[in-house]
Amino acid sequence: MDDLETGLLKEHKEAVKSWWNSDHTKQKWHGQTYESDFETHLHYWIRQEKTLKLLDELNLPKDSKILELGFGGAELAGKILDREFIYHGIDISEHLCENAKKIYSENINKGQAFFYKGSLEEKLNFEENYFDLVIICGAIHYAGKLSNNFLEVKRVLKKEGYYIIGQGNMFTLNDLISFRKLLKCLIWYFTNEKYMHSYSLSFRDIIFESKLKKYFLKYENSNFFKLNFMNKKSNSWKYKIHKRIFSFSSLKNTIENNEFEVIKFYGGPFLYASERKNSIIKKFFNNIFQFLLDKKIFNFLIKISDNFVFLSKPNHKL
Ligand SMILES: C[S@@+](CC[C@H](N)C(=O)[O-])C[C@H]1O[C@@H](n2cnc3c(N)ncnc32)[C@H](O)[C@@H]1O
Repeated sequence: MDDLETGLLKEHKEAVKSWWNSDHTKQKWHGQTYESDFETHLHYWIRQEKTLKLLDELNLPKDSKILELGFGGAELAGKILDREFIYHGIDISEHLCENAKKIYSENINKGQAFFYKGSLEEKLNFEENYFDLVIICGAIHYAGKLSNNFLEVKRVLKKEGYYIIGQGNMFTLNDLISFRKLLKCLIWYFTNEKYMHSYSLSFRDIIFESKLKKYFLKYENSNFFKLNFMNKKSNSWKYKIHKRIFSFSSLKNTIENNEFEVIKFYGGPFLYASERKNSIIKKFFNNIFQFLLDKKIFNFLIKISDNFVFLSKPNHKL
């Protein structure tokens, strides 16, 4: 039910691999990129902070084995190693693996850290009941065959193991205050969209990359759709990636439909500055919303927070 159909799956997997091994992502992601621009990447940092909060609340014994899928710049790896856990990381990107191996060469030599090139939706090269915890942050949306991910995580987890899933929201407050993004979100909502095909915000792409396309096909080459007005802010991808989009409820349902149970969750941020401009006002409101959610005063705010992080464990009763 959650998997891409076979015809699209191969194309999707190839596209994900090419994108994450491309020169563009090499420049953008080549390690510790977030550190250089905290303001721009506040949503990643909050996601990481909430992930670590969940990890700390588990009170796992030292030397527990943790697997991270899609580790990116390996920032979380450092925080996990600081807590004296044994870290294993898998990422599809060759250059991100090489980068992580350079950063953590000392931990690798001491047998505390391991980095592998591999895929989060293929068979994981570990025996059953091996890990105390598996973490995936901002990467599950690349799984074409999502059910494989949950099956494999369940297999490699110990019976009392946990799965932490951090993921961006398709309906974030930060997006809903921008007209074009709001329009895109409304179309996603009313057409029950499961995938996004680019971050493009031209009216043309918003329509033709959505399920509304079928109603507008006969006008595709019309002068109207060639107008500058319709094509402004176009930014389509050449990569044929079916990037999943999740709301709070759809990710929770996905976790539960794949035989895991959700134990708790955290979320944030809400409004954040992508440029220094306006950052004081945005920070002010962001802090208020964050406080209200963290203190569980307005739990519904999780539905419009930029990211949510779920703590789950396999549901052995099913
Ligand atoms: C958006 S980044 C997230 C990085 C990091 N976890 C974070 O929270 O900042 C997604 C990462 O997932 C990796 N990735 C994408 N598809 C993957 C796949 N099928 N298998 C393993 N890693 C994958 C990418 O190479 C990239 O490092």
